[in-house]
Amino acid sequence: MLKGKHLIDPMDFTTDEIEEIFKLADQIISCQREFAHICDGKLLATLFYEPSTRTRFSFEAAMLRLGGQVIGFSEPNSSSVSKGESVADTIKTVGCYADIAVMRHPKEGAPKVASMYSEMPVINAGDGGHQHPTQTLTDLLTIRSAKGRLNDLTIGCCGDLKFGRTVHSLIKALSRYENNKLVLISPSELKVPDYIKKEILEKNNIEFIEVEKLEDVIDKVDILYMTRVQRERFFNEDDYIRLRDRYILDKEKMNKASEEMIVLHPLPRVNEISCEVDDDPRAYYFKQAKYGMYVRMALIAKLLGVK
Ligand code: NCD
Repeated sequence: MLKGKHLIDPMDFTTDEIEEIFKLADQIISCQREFAHICDGKLLATLFYEPSTRTRFSFEAAMLRLGGQVIGFSEPNSSSVSKGESVADTIKTVGCYADIAVMRHPKEGAPKVASMYSEMPVINAGDGGHQHPTQTLTDLLTIRSAKGRLNDLTIGCCGDLKFGRTVHSLIKALSRYENNKLVLISPSELKVPDYIKKEILEKNNIEFIEVEKLEDVIDKVDILYMTRVQRERFFNEDDYIRLRDRYILDKEKMNKASEEMIVLHPLPRVNEISCEVDDDPRAYYFKQAKYGMYVRMALIAKLLGVK
């Protein structure tokens, strides 16, 4: 039963529960009209303490397409946050008005704290450089739709694997499906944090390699997950400038990849995928953004327990 649960970490739901969400997303995709009123009278609150386009809009679009309504802020300075209100007090107050809340926060753990004070479901829409579980649901649904499976895959993650929360959540989630292998492609300064290697990859005996050059491994992956260098998490602008254009996926590199490979990116992209790749049938990142809305429709419906 997913009704009433929070989603803070990708491991909060079992793989069966995740499959339940995907099955509902499949139904929504095939007949959206049937779901147009299942959230009539329900209210979603979006509490965004950090910028967002896809995550906030896709949650809002998801709720509106289910017949529900939306309140919230995308600019914390326009709410009592600017007066120094705590996350706990904000969520308790919002819980007086809304049925479900989505929170993005620059501090790791803030949505977790909110969930501890909340009677309505709280969904983590990204907490600092930590986790982003609904991006992961998006990524998994996209992979499942493109490949027909979530196991037996070689997944290349490329770019900022240190601060990129989408990669952290995706690695966690993929580690629960059998026989997945990871190719971690990053500059040495932006490698996957040790805690993920020790607690997730090594503990679950997931085969992985760490490399610096995309060209060396692009022909070996089924999925290439590109990411942006997370400028806002750098202490020093010079380091960002030095590292930001390290990986640029272009036609030449795509020519080396398998015809069956697909390219994902949580977006926004900066320079890491050249626009010339957008027309390649293997470029899945805009489709992925669409799956993000459908999977959030399914998630909202499940957490609210509406039929
Ligand atoms: C990602 C995020 O916010 O972590 N964006 C998103 O939600 N689609 C990726 C990023 O900002 O690079």
